[in-house]
Amino acid sequence: MATLRQSPTAMVSALMRKRRAEGVDVIDLGEGELDFPSPEVAKRAGIDAIARDDTKYTAVTGTEALKRAVCAKFSHDNGIDTSPERVVVSVGGKQIVFNAMLATLSPGDEVLIPAPYWVSYPDIVALTGATARILPTSAEEGFKLTAGALRAALTPRTRWLILNSPNNPSGAVYTRAELEALLEVFAEAPQALLLADDIYEHLVFEGEFFTPAGLRADLAERILTLNGVSKAYSMTGWRIGYATGPEWLIEAIGRLQSQSTTNPASMCQAAAQAALEAPLDFLPERLERLRRRRDLMVEGIRAIDGLDCATPQGAFYLYVDCAGLIGKRTPQGLRLENDQMVADHFAASAGVGVVPGTAFGLSPYLRLAYGQPSARLREALARLAECCARLD
Ligand SMILES: Cc1ncc(COP(=O)(O)O)c(C=O)c1O
Repeated sequence: MATLRQSPTAMVSALMRKRRAEGVDVIDLGEGELDFPSPEVAKRAGIDAIARDDTKYTAVTGTEALKRAVCAKFSHDNGIDTSPERVVVSVGGKQIVFNAMLATLSPGDEVLIPAPYWVSYPDIVALTGATARILPTSAEEGFKLTAGALRAALTPRTRWLILNSPNNPSGAVYTRAELEALLEVFAEAPQALLLADDIYEHLVFEGEFFTPAGLRADLAERILTLNGVSKAYSMTGWRIGYATGPEWLIEAIGRLQSQSTTNPASMCQAAAQAALEAPLDFLPERLERLRRRRDLMVEGIRAIDGLDCATPQGAFYLYVDCAGLIGKRTPQGLRLENDQMVADHFAASAGVGVVPGTAFGLSPYLRLAYGQPSARLREALARLAECCARLD
């Protein structure tokens, strides 16, 4: 437990909730979820499941019906040919990551994690006793891991490589050519597994989404492809994630799950199945709204002296470079030494919650989530501009 931190994003949200309870009008740009409702078909299916008493244990790794819907999704969207025995459904994508790491890692093993990364990967790895090896990327490289950097990082102890595209927090989306180059290198390290975290798959504004197992069926026995309904379907609270991979790994994840949570909630599985079986016809309009918010945010951030950011191609985050604020002084005379202090100052002085880049392994940056109505985002930008203008 001494190695395990509280999730930094959850900490920002808790701080924002506390300040709100104190009567402060705060704007939380820290939370990784969208303000859109869950799809009607999913809500109806969840309610119907309860009404017909579909409220009992299910198979540990998910109902057959949901697993079939997951197989159809992987085949249709990703060109991944799989079967229910190679699918597991868990309590959110996070439980899949947790189970997969716990099921496979021992002290001495290494997990390669490009930074910036989703906050939970290194902490989950640390909990298993294995070592997270962080591979920094740069804004110039579009925050993407290159084949050369991967080759240099692989060792006989590498057990996993984690790729997340579209990326949280940078919004980077790997192209087909970039993924193919990485997979070429990965193919040469047969002891290693690849976790492809595709949870933001449908949230791509420019370019096209590709997933490793869809590109290299010959490597599918070494790839765990993770997805879920949290992000594209705005179903974070239902807690349904799923994955496909080699049968031995899916079996191990299922065994672990059978001794912890057992199955994900039965009515949530029914809702996720309905979501997956329905067309994604609400998505284009939502993507357009998100794109407008993204453009609003990028323009607003670039107009603030001391802040800068690239235009992310996917997800719903900006990874904002705050190097221009480091060394400045607040009106209270405090010198801002790092991104954590900048984030603290924004929370205290502007009532705007952002997550410091240190949480994602690459500083000095701030992650801003734009899953909120444009009017709130404009207000947040105005507050940040005023707050930065008052720095000396
Ligand atoms: C990159 C990434 N992977 C996985 C998850 C887990 O999603 P959930 O457990 O809500 O399905 C998240 C959630 O924020 C994420 O950002």
